[in-house]
Amino acid sequence: THVVCQPCFGCKYTDCVVVCPVECFYEGDKILYIHPEECIDCEACVPECPVEAIFHEDNVPEEWQGFVELNAEMAPQCESITEKKEPLADN
Ligand code: F3S
Repeated sequence: THVVCQPCFGCKYTDCVVVCPVECFYEGDKILYIHPEECIDCEACVPECPVEAIFHEDNVPEEWQGFVELNAEMAPQCESITEKKEPLADN
């Protein structure tokens, strides 16, 4: 699976969700999550994220390891997001 990490927090550019073929993104208040049982590792979202927040679970930087579990825990509790929306970050 792929994982959304710290750079997404407070940004939510949502460019990632429109390219996902399996609609595996879920929306938290400040960050998006990827559902690990739905992600097919196509990697389409990786280059779309302007802040490089998405990593394969095996390549998550050390300081963001906690996001692997966080995505798995939170995705099932959040609403699916499949359309781009206004980002939180205004840059
Ligand atoms: Fe977040 Fe990047 Fe998607 S900032 S919402 S992971 S495009």
